[in-house]
Amino acid sequence: MSINGSEMMGSETILILGGSGKTGRRVAERLMAKGKDVRLASRSTVPAFDWTDSSGWAAALDGVDAAYVSYQPDLAVPGAVEAIGTLCRLAAEKGVKHLVLLSGRGEDEAQAAEEALKQCGVGYTIISASWFFQNFSEAFLLDGIQAGELILPVGEVKEPFIDADDIADVAVAALTEPGHMGKTYEVTGPRLITFGEAVADIARQTARDIRFTTVDIGDYVALLEEAQIPADYIWLIRYLFTSVLDGRNESMTNGVAQALGRQPRDFTDFVRAAAATGVWEGPK
Ligand SMILES: NC(=O)c1ccc[n+]([C@@H]2O[C@H](COP(=O)([O-])OP(=O)(O)OC[C@H]3O[C@@H](n4cnc5c(N)ncnc54)[C@H](OP(=O)(O)O)[C@@H]3O)[C@@H](O)[C@H]2O)c1
Repeated sequence: MSINGSEMMGSETILILGGSGKTGRRVAERLMAKGKDVRLASRSTVPAFDWTDSSGWAAALDGVDAAYVSYQPDLAVPGAVEAIGTLCRLAAEKGVKHLVLLSGRGEDEAQAAEEALKQCGVGYTIISASWFFQNFSEAFLLDGIQAGELILPVGEVKEPFIDADDIADVAVAALTEPGHMGKTYEVTGPRLITFGEAVADIARQTARDIRFTTVDIGDYVALLEEAQIPADYIWLIRYLFTSVLDGRNESMTNGVAQALGRQPRDFTDFVRAAAATGVWEGPK
């Protein structure tokens, strides 16, 4: 074995927690294309892995050499630090050599989870990411775009949105190449964009009339409560739109270049490619 766990050659098994998610799926596809032995784990796999029930974690980690860890729903939620600490200690006991953790940029609570990872005795790489492009095409912002109006409790604050493909490339480099052990990569896209500008770009490239409307956070929470959205999800939304989007992340970093030696992809290129798939077509 080399001192860099990810320099292992041969038949190592790489576990992907959240393997069907926005980043996990991309990490898994890339590793499989490289001929790696990949094990996907989430609530719907056999055996199942559930962040809310640690009884299945040991089975998921059996025989694993390295893992990509995307926590659910967010490292900022109560219980996340303890869960990451427990998983890391178990991974150490099982002989796992490298954990690659996806974290949220600018989230103080996520940094506590990063510390728990650093202290558990397993080699680590941390990817601390800004908001994903794919929130607009594969996640909670998609419905509003398809409906023709995205309503959010955010105004002119700018975010350096990043492509989940870039995050996956960084994770795969960390898991398969030497030199990434013990590193924290703060990764962002190449440009600061407001949510309104992002929607305008999508509208332009889909030739659709899609509006962006800013609402007060209290009114937005009332809308979510009316739609009977679970309280813990509403807590997370309030946290993300008030704390994380308070301007603290209005800057770019060069984490993608540090890890990969190339620049991150631009939002407009993502929009062009996603628009061509038809994902943002309006109601039929
Ligand atoms: N979205 C962003 O802009 C952003 C930015 C920075 C950091 N992050 C961080 O990224 C992480 C999420 O990664 P992602 O966006 O790639 O994932 P995602 O698209 O949210 O994917 C969800 C994945 O997690 C699994 N999952 C859901 N609930 C689970 C549970 N209770 N236990 C185990 N697995 C569960 C799902 O599979 P099953 O349904 O089969 O369980 C699926 O594989 C979060 O920690 C978030 O804080 C996100």
